[in-house]
Amino acid sequence: MILLDFPLYLMETLKCRGSLCGFVVVFMFLTTVSKGSACHAPSTPQCFETKADEFYICEWSMNTTESDVMFDLYFKKNRFRNIKTTWSKIHRDKLNLFTPVDLWVEAHVGNSSCTSTKKSVILSNTVKYEAPQKISISWLKNGLKLRWAAVEQNSALAEVRFQRHDEHHTELWENRTTNTTIESSMYQVIVTNMSKHSAYRVQIRHRPTQPRNPLWSDWSPVVMVPAELERSPEVSVTTRLVNGTRRVMLTWKPMPHTASVGKVNYTLKDTQSSRGCPCEERTHHFKWNKYTTYISYSAANISVIARNAAGYSPPAIIQVPAVPAADLKSCDKTLLNEKLNKQTCLELYDLQDGDSRSENVITLTGRKKKKEREQIRESIKDYVRYLYFEHTCDGDRKPRTVKRCLFYKKEGVPLREPQDFTPSSETDHSVDLSWKAIPSVDQRGFLTHYSLCRVKISSQEEHKDCQNISASLINHRLENLTPGTKYNISLAGVTRVGEGPRATITINTQPKKPVNVLWSLLFLFGFFFISTVCTFILKRIKNKIFPPVPTPVIPDFTPCQPESQQMLERKEEVHELTLHQLHPERKSLPEDAEETPVFRGKWDDGTDEDAEDERGDSRMPGGSSDECLSTDQALRSSREGEMTDMDQVDNEIAMLIYRNGLVFDVKTDST
Ligand SMILES: *[C@@H]1O[C@H](CO)[C@@H](O)[C@H](O)[C@H]1NC(C)=O
Ligand SMILES: *[C@@H]1O[C@H](CO)[C@@H](O)[C@H](O)[C@H]1NC(C)=O
Ligand SMILES: *[C@@H]1O[C@H](CO)[C@@H](O)[C@H](O)[C@H]1NC(C)=O
Ligand SMILES: *[C@@H]1O[C@H](CO)[C@@H](O)[C@H](O)[C@H]1NC(C)=O
Ligand SMILES: *[C@@H]1O[C@H](CO)[C@@H](O)[C@H](O)[C@H]1NC(C)=O
Ligand SMILES: *[C@@H]1O[C@H](CO)[C@@H](O)[C@H](O)[C@H]1NC(C)=O
Ligand SMILES: *[C@@H]1O[C@H](CO)[C@@H](O)[C@H](O)[C@H]1NC(C)=O
Repeated sequence: MILLDFPLYLMETLKCRGSLCGFVVVFMFLTTVSKGSACHAPSTPQCFETKADEFYICEWSMNTTESDVMFDLYFKKNRFRNIKTTWSKIHRDKLNLFTPVDLWVEAHVGNSSCTSTKKSVILSNTVKYEAPQKISISWLKNGLKLRWAAVEQNSALAEVRFQRHDEHHTELWENRTTNTTIESSMYQVIVTNMSKHSAYRVQIRHRPTQPRNPLWSDWSPVVMVPAELERSPEVSVTTRLVNGTRRVMLTWKPMPHTASVGKVNYTLKDTQSSRGCPCEERTHHFKWNKYTTYISYSAANISVIARNAAGYSPPAIIQVPAVPAADLKSCDKTLLNEKLNKQTCLELYDLQDGDSRSENVITLTGRKKKKEREQIRESIKDYVRYLYFEHTCDGDRKPRTVKRCLFYKKEGVPLREPQDFTPSSETDHSVDLSWKAIPSVDQRGFLTHYSLCRVKISSQEEHKDCQNISASLINHRLENLTPGTKYNISLAGVTRVGEGPRATITINTQPKKPVNVLWSLLFLFGFFFISTVCTFILKRIKNKIFPPVPTPVIPDFTPCQPESQQMLERKEEVHELTLHQLHPERKSLPEDAEETPVFRGKWDDGTDEDAEDERGDSRMPGGSSDECLSTDQALRSSREGEMTDMDQVDNEIAMLIYRNGLVFDVKTDST
């Protein structure tokens, strides 16, 4: 059918009107097929210099299902036969590079063959680089930096295509074309306007800028670009003391998802090992987000850094303070002048302000050279207090602290006196003293004690009396001082070498105080009080056991007692005891009533006990039995006077004298 129709189609083709030209293609196709049904013409070959070596590469393609295809490559008259691949590598010496040549390829499939179209090229103009390999990526402030090996000294043109990373790769690809810069044999491009917080898939191709006919390289393999690690890992630490070493367990949260695309590694370093004390430098790289390490008792900083393909996080710095030591002793022996083995490391922390600052640490290890060790030993200062550490590195690279103590290379006397030396609560025989310790930088040695001295200024001999008090004290009560005396009191810190400057104060003890008299008065009173109570009780008891036997010897006393009792009951009405003039006829009453006090009583404080006591006293033989009587009479007479005639009072002057608050003395005078 086809062959029959042929003349008709040819005629149509000759007219070649518009769409009918398509038939020519059909015709051509049919002629090709007629040569051999298995052969489809290959594409025109492309030959280029790679710059990688001395060879040119020619590439073409062909659609075939046959496995056994052979190609012949033609450079005008030059023929390269029996090529089994769709490319060929030809040494440049075999080629005419600088004049135009016709270039084609002929394919042979079975008994049939087909030829590609011809193309005229100047080979030297055609350059194609190999696809970029080993691309390194890092996030900058303004974008993503991409670097890969440069092919030539000249800069290249690069095309970067990128796609935001998601599970299904649905995001759009974006393209950027930029000229590369060259830095230490690396091409470098910075792609701006990419978000650091996202992960991307990136591909690059490049081509030279110099040749007239540059070809784009193939695309590089897809590079996964994770988001920037903006934050340092959030590390939590638990530390446990284990027999001279510290087990430090660090854990942290995984890095954000977008930053973990590809893989994340962690790097851990500690300052102890980076100083080589006592174990050699260790940097740990690992994938998981926890780690256990060991450090000695001295202070250390541990840093954890997360790394991904695009960079690394800021370091998380864990400051592990030194293990506090409650009571550090002075060193009895150090290894400073000994030969050190490689596993031993000594550290001397300069205790300037009482705390150890790592910048002032002197480190001496057995690994250092002899000369270097000498220099280190010389750098240890006299009179400076050091915290001495002796560490060793155990077999499994665990640092262990063997010894800690306080060390002076050479001791001196304190530079300063104890501070703020002040007296307080001075009494006549003692004073409280307080002070602040000498700053440790001024101690310049271990204080063995304080020397506290006193000098009496007033006395002629000026004898200095000193005592030693503990170096740990900051106050002291100084006793056994003489009352009313001026003292110079001085305090100085003492080291093994000697005594430092003295802080001096002058105090005046108080004169012997009436406080003592008051105290003894109070004591006496107490004694008196107790004895009266006792007497009273005893008397009660006595009265119970031995009821009072009336004594015929002193019959006058019997009325006295109830009267006294009455008097006591009336004692609150003493104000009524105003004395009135006695009637003339009363005057004839006993003489002593007129001349001796009519009433004499002791009213210490009006307590019953006192009265009882008085009553007891009055019973004493040879006591004032007449007093009792006279009192009685006086009371009676006053009462009578009161009752009889009050008008008479004007004519009489009654004088009441109140003496010592205790005794009433009453005198009567007639005018
Ligand atoms: C091979 O076939 C594909 C599609 O079938 C086509 O795009 C391509 O151009 C063909 N190649 C050649 C050399 O004919
Ligand atoms: C190809 O040629 C060989 C001999 O050269 C012959 O034997 C074979 O039959 C031929 N094949 C076709 C498909 O013509
Ligand atoms: C690259 O540099 C060349 C000249 O060196 C310039 O002509 C070209 O425009 C540049 N291309 C880009 C994308 O900047
Ligand atoms: C502590 O370390 C010392 C010295 O290595 C060892 O002899 C001792 O057994 C250790 N003690 C413990 C509890 O591990
Ligand atoms: C740890 O780091 C802090 C702050 O950077 C620094 O002051 C300190 O000296 C360091 N400590 C050690 C033991 O390196
Ligand atoms: C007492 O101290 C003062 C000054 O603090 C000093 O001038 C004086 O000489 C001292 N007196 C004695 C006896 O040490
Ligand atoms: C104080 O101590 C020093 C040194 O220990 C000693 O020589 C001195 O006798 C002591 N003084 C007194 C008063 O105890």
